[in-house]
Amino acid sequence: MHIAVVGLSHRTAPVEVREKLSISEQSMEKSLKSLRDNEQVLEVSILSTCNRLEIYILLRHPDLGLEAVREFLMAYSGLEEEHLIPHLFTYNQEEAVAHLMKVAAGLDSLVLGEGQILSQVKKMLRLGQEHQSMGPILNRLLTQAVSTGKRVRSETNLGTGAVSISSAAVELAQLKLGQSQGKDQLVSLEPEVVAVVGAGRMSRLLLQHLQSKGCSGLTLINRTRERAESLASDFPDLDVDCRLLDELDNCLSSCSLVFTSTAADTPIIDRSRLKNLSLTSLRLIDIGVPRNIAADVDGVSGVESHDVDDLQEVVSRNQEARQKVALEAEGLLQEEGRLFLEWWDSLEAVPTINQLRATLEAIRSEELQKALSRMGPDFSARERKVVEALSKGIINKILHTPVTQLRAPQARSERKEALRVVETLFKLSLPNDGK
Ligand SMILES: NC(=O)c1ccc[n+]([C@@H]2O[C@H](COP(=O)([O-])OP(=O)(O)OC[C@H]3O[C@@H](n4cnc5c(N)ncnc54)[C@H](OP(=O)(O)O)[C@@H]3O)[C@@H](O)[C@H]2O)c1
Repeated sequence: MHIAVVGLSHRTAPVEVREKLSISEQSMEKSLKSLRDNEQVLEVSILSTCNRLEIYILLRHPDLGLEAVREFLMAYSGLEEEHLIPHLFTYNQEEAVAHLMKVAAGLDSLVLGEGQILSQVKKMLRLGQEHQSMGPILNRLLTQAVSTGKRVRSETNLGTGAVSISSAAVELAQLKLGQSQGKDQLVSLEPEVVAVVGAGRMSRLLLQHLQSKGCSGLTLINRTRERAESLASDFPDLDVDCRLLDELDNCLSSCSLVFTSTAADTPIIDRSRLKNLSLTSLRLIDIGVPRNIAADVDGVSGVESHDVDDLQEVVSRNQEARQKVALEAEGLLQEEGRLFLEWWDSLEAVPTINQLRATLEAIRSEELQKALSRMGPDFSARERKVVEALSKGIINKILHTPVTQLRAPQARSERKEALRVVETLFKLSLPNDGK
């Protein structure tokens, strides 16, 4: 069996490719099923976030199975081979395990150490379980990844500082405002007239960071009023004016800084919308993936627009310091990856152990019957039970040491050799489905 991950991320693909491969929770069951239906695929789970789509997969044979995953990605995105394949990465076996540990720890994130990725890995685990696309191996791998993410955040300094895509978006606004004033530094957002479109998790983080960077009030626009009001009520010190989406044009006309973070599938702001408004200076920062702001707004007079990929500019300013902190987590990631691989390797011994048990059990049962029939009717039921328990006890004692030995952590080659010896000595015949 073969573990692999095939995917793309902010490191390998621009947002215009990533947004075509964003799999919503509603489409997850269908996508998992279509992958699972392939006979090469034994187990599968999908991680879909704004910055990555990764398919973790347990395959019978790597070549045929990986091709099936690439075909799925092409069909789902509607992209031609030459526009998709160059953006995909594939990691196999130990590298796939190490990659997942790194992702769960936030070390592969655009904003190094951000916390949202851990809940997204937990969601991948939950959806895989709910839709029964995973078996024991991916279940164990993902559970181990979640525990790695938790450990990194509690045992290293990586989790401190509350960084996220939203905090980077607010910093980008500060940087751009500073640059417009001729300063290459982050400046206060106090003079800005701010709006946030969307009232979900990322908008909550936007409000937190905006408040901490000097913003005292803003307009919060959402599809439904209830959610906007509920979010606003959690910020009693921020003057939040809640509006519905149909007031977006008014808001765009009166604001100088607008963040968009909705989960809409298609853009909610585009050139045709903006060109009917009289705009003098509007900065748009879109953290939605798929994008909430269409690419065609570029060049609209009075408008400057940024998407998630533009966050790179602000992220790279802080990256050096965080890279040093990230090094603290390396040992921990290796340890967690090794624990999973040891467990997975030990599974290789299971068919041999089962066969060995079955062989010895057949001998025990046959010899017991012979002995009992020789003893004749003089033996009471109680005495027969004692003899049976004695025979079982002897077999269990004999098996205990070799079974423990075969399961124990060891080099793959050593385990293979030990299994071969046991299979030869006891003439065990096993189907060949090895890793
Ligand atoms: N979660 C992350 O770590 C993360 C990181 C970076 C970027 N992003 C991106 O940020 C966006 C928001 O993510 P989130 O985690 O905050 O989502 P979320 O908590 O699920 O909130 C979704 C928000 O989008 C609104 N919405 C959904 N469909 C809409 C539509 N068709 N038209 C207008 N509004 C709609 C919802 O409005 P209602 O309240 O009316 O339902 C809600 O305000 C997504 O594009 C995501 O990819 C997320």
